[in-house]
Amino acid sequence: MGIDNQIYNRIGDSWWDEANPLNMLHGSFTPGRFAYFRAVLDRVGLEPAGLRALDVGCGGGFLAEEFARLGCAVTGVDPSSVSVGTARRHADSGRLGIGYAVATGERLPLRDETFDLAYCCDVLEHISDLDRVIGETARILKPGGVYLFDTINRTGASKMLAIKVMQEWRLTRVVDTELHSWELFIKPTELEEVLRRHRMRLGEITGLGPRSNKAALVWNFAQARRGRISFGQLSRSMDVGEVKDTSVSYMGYAVKMA
Ligand SMILES: C[S@@+](CC[C@H](N)C(=O)[O-])C[C@H]1O[C@@H](n2cnc3c(N)ncnc32)[C@H](O)[C@@H]1O
Repeated sequence: MGIDNQIYNRIGDSWWDEANPLNMLHGSFTPGRFAYFRAVLDRVGLEPAGLRALDVGCGGGFLAEEFARLGCAVTGVDPSSVSVGTARRHADSGRLGIGYAVATGERLPLRDETFDLAYCCDVLEHISDLDRVIGETARILKPGGVYLFDTINRTGASKMLAIKVMQEWRLTRVVDTELHSWELFIKPTELEEVLRRHRMRLGEITGLGPRSNKAALVWNFAQARRGRISFGQLSRSMDVGEVKDTSVSYMGYAVKMA
């Protein structure tokens, strides 16, 4: 069996419900990732208000809403029509004015050099043609535009946490399907090489991971598996954010060269 990206259609109608495993990406992942990305914008001197931003693989819209609240004009794309419907309804209920469309990162229905900012979070490890997705993103970015990302490293540590704990071990798994395939995980050097090929200069790579106690982490996965805590609670208990260790997940940014 290969990676099961159909899960985003099967259960993508309730990303914002804390009982849904997809909600794990909200609790502490979204604030943890967003705090870093916000700091990167400051570092590169991009004032967010009014920026055109593209969310590639937006899912239920967790990060799209954060960037919209910063004042960015956000477009979110995702191949899962169910997820896009959920994201659209949630943004509409908060009057956030985000534009959503069903599309893949390999084929963006967008004009060349029209975005100041693009981001792709927890998506690159779900696709089979990394070169094409990065190439498309580089195409729609303006020269000097910023690319933000996070993804999963291909290491023994990521096999343990993202494959064994999260989807294989009977007592701890959060889904009963192949949410991730270890072979699709990406080493930072591989990502840097693809970025370079598409004229995007890597600014930084840093770790993204749980800052909670490791024993408590596995215990809380088991608690969520038994339904004793929600996936939202599990995520908050992990206290995900910037860490030094890049061996499981990492995040960073690149700038499109002129
Ligand atoms: C783990 S979710 C991440 C969602 C969102 N970026 C977040 O961090 O909250 C992965 C998303 O990637 C999307 N996806 C899968 N294949 C894709 C592709 N080829 N291009 C763009 N998105 C894709 C899925 O539909 C899903 O919504």
